[in-house]
Amino acid sequence: MRRRLCAANWKMYKTNADAAAYVGRFVQRTSAIPEHVDLVLCPPFTALHTVAASLSAGQGPPGRVKLGAQNMHWEQQGAFTGEISAPMLLEIGVQYVILGHSERRQYFGETDEMVRLKTAAALAAGFTPIVAVGESLQLRREGATKEHVLFQVRAALEGLALEDLRKVVIAYEPIWAIGTGENCDAVAANDVMHAIRGCLSGLEEVPILYGGSVKPENIAAYTAQPDIDGGLVGGASLDPDAFAALAASAA
Ligand code: PGA
Repeated sequence: MRRRLCAANWKMYKTNADAAAYVGRFVQRTSAIPEHVDLVLCPPFTALHTVAASLSAGQGPPGRVKLGAQNMHWEQQGAFTGEISAPMLLEIGVQYVILGHSERRQYFGETDEMVRLKTAAALAAGFTPIVAVGESLQLRREGATKEHVLFQVRAALEGLALEDLRKVVIAYEPIWAIGTGENCDAVAANDVMHAIRGCLSGLEEVPILYGGSVKPENIAAYTAQPDIDGGLVGGASLDPDAFAALAASAA
């Protein structure tokens, strides 16, 4: 059976002080979350170290909550002002990295080719990449959802060896559902996610997450679907109690 996974994408929220307070509260709540739900916190770069330190100082079982980054450059080092590389993240204890989030694609010009380079670099460094894909409202209206999403998945994973492909996590996030409160119907989401699972051999057993206005009240409707293994959560992950409740419901 595939494991469940709930990943908190804090986006550009929380200072170090906020992050430490969050982790202190969140670890107290993890005992109520079944073991087969993997938990990942993805703070902004500036709070990664604080979250790592707070997790190791916390009361929860060691390793229960994993650390993730929200982005990564594909080069190891170099003249890339403002960027962060895999060795820098590894040193802090990062294990997951979100790549190709629609906000990166939309506001920072990330292309499918950049997402492919980042995914390969993340796997080479030993990270679990959470590769995000999703269609705009216009593409959905045009009936081009699956075509677009499958193109993004294939482009991101192109050239990977089967053993690497099996280490990937995919997040399907319809852009029109992100931060809008207008979440995608669970059956419709599952339909796209089923197509993702079938589009490349090696994806049969990988976790595929739904993202887009996931809340404690609606996550169970998603994880009840056969191809939905958890959530990539923005807004509802900013409150430790809400994210813990959501992860417990995802079980
Ligand atoms: P949301 O964001 O949960 O606030 O809709 C999800 C995401 O962007 O990963």
